[in-house]
Amino acid sequence: MPKAAEPIDQPVQEPVDEAALAAALEERINGVVAHRPLVMVSNRGPVQFTQERNGHFSTKQGSGGLVTAVSTVLQENEAVWIAATMGRGDRARWQRARDNNEAFIPPAESGTNFHLRFVEPDEAAYNKYYNVISNPLLWFLQHYLWDTPRAPDITHEVWDAWRNGYVTVNQQFANEIVAACDNLTDRGEPIVMLQDYHLYLCPGMIRAQRPGTTIQHFIHIPWPDPDYWRLLPVEMRKAICEGMLGNDIVGFQTKSHARSFMYTCEAYVPDVEVDYTTRTIRWNDREIKVTHYPISIDPTAVKRIAYSQEARAYERYLPTHWNEYTILRTDRAEPSKNIIRGFQGFDRFLELHPEFRDRVNFIAVTQPSRMDVEEYRNYLDDISAIVGRINAKYANVETGWQPITLIMGEKYARVLAAMKWYDLLMVNSLMDGMALVAKEGALVNERSGVLLLSEGAGVVEQLGEWALVVSPADVEGHAEAIFQALTMPMAERHRRATAMKREIESHDVTMWFRDQLRDIIEIEDQKTEEA
Ligand code: F6P
Repeated sequence: MPKAAEPIDQPVQEPVDEAALAAALEERINGVVAHRPLVMVSNRGPVQFTQERNGHFSTKQGSGGLVTAVSTVLQENEAVWIAATMGRGDRARWQRARDNNEAFIPPAESGTNFHLRFVEPDEAAYNKYYNVISNPLLWFLQHYLWDTPRAPDITHEVWDAWRNGYVTVNQQFANEIVAACDNLTDRGEPIVMLQDYHLYLCPGMIRAQRPGTTIQHFIHIPWPDPDYWRLLPVEMRKAICEGMLGNDIVGFQTKSHARSFMYTCEAYVPDVEVDYTTRTIRWNDREIKVTHYPISIDPTAVKRIAYSQEARAYERYLPTHWNEYTILRTDRAEPSKNIIRGFQGFDRFLELHPEFRDRVNFIAVTQPSRMDVEEYRNYLDDISAIVGRINAKYANVETGWQPITLIMGEKYARVLAAMKWYDLLMVNSLMDGMALVAKEGALVNERSGVLLLSEGAGVVEQLGEWALVVSPADVEGHAEAIFQALTMPMAERHRRATAMKREIESHDVTMWFRDQLRDIIEIEDQKTEEA
């Protein structure tokens, strides 16, 4: 008979208490939020200053998803926020701070929770950095917007804008960030959190001056595949990738954009090792984590504004725009938003379904954006032209009906007030990092409105299941989706709308931020262990 195997002494394994570990990590995140010096950096700051005639300064909140998200998640931490001066008011306010030998503009004086610090590029350099390289060159590239047989042309002007605009302003930002960090160390080692595509060179420039600093960078817009990056000459695309590899963590809105970034580094940076399973890049003896954090909204704050007195005041006149069926869209006048195809789809819908004429209104709330850039000015003109053509084609002189109303301007309370009423919200971007309007609309809408969503919007990963998803160039598909939405039984509308609300309420912007801090803590622990 074979002898039974001798038992081997095994070290007794203590069961791991996962819940206790997770709770301890959450406590550490709370500690970072409450005490750790954070340096938030973006091109556009949380507020813009205006100097009044009496010399005093007033402020207006900066526009856009980035400012709203970051302002929301950093309520408790007296973080430093570094941004570029946007106009005369910012420059005058920053000059006053320097005259008073202040390193920061204190929170009480900006009406924010931040210690503000400005980077002040000269106007020519800023113009090259913002109006030539960031928008349109990088923006168009990252949203696949170039009509490549014709554009972009990387002329000597573009090279000049790169060298004497983008590189220069990034270096100014980096110097300012390093100075701010040096100023803060009595509160602990600062964490630098960079935002967006204006600052791709900064991480490498900061790393060169402060090798040990924890640097994280979140990109709010898509990241295209390596082939498309070939539109940029080697020097530019290599500098962008290598600049980004100065970070400890690079975050994107979606998994696929994170993957494209890894492919791009593998294609254009010599000697990188990319591990697609652990989502890390090894370069110059450092490890960089590449991941995704889908941005979201603060449901309580959005509802507070949607039900504010200001919003209610708009609700008194907005109904003059409604009809038996109301379609809404609300965006910056921006080529990536695909506004014109949305109107073409609506035109086709009215052609196919004349029974809906007189009964449906399409309201487009449009905010002019980046008007110093020719492509944006032209796009706004194209929007006005197509609206005119469609209105002329279908307008009913007897009833006074015209199918499309264009409302210009940016008033957040008005947008939210309008969102309560739609039957269909159109979010058909060609490409979009996230498209937060889809989340805002689904949250505040009171009529179980349907969401038409493009495959190119990052939000499709979260809400696509309950939306009508279209391919962004498919005009016929837009027309069919409009018909499907306006004829959808109310019970089905309700089922989808309820599921979307639940999803948005359970994945808010705080989670977006805490997930980033969790990864920062892990990376710092890892670095300490390795040291
Ligand atoms: O991520 C894109 C973004 O930075 C958003 O935060 C914002 O909506 C928009 O672009 C603002 O652009 P700009 O600062 O150029 O007006």
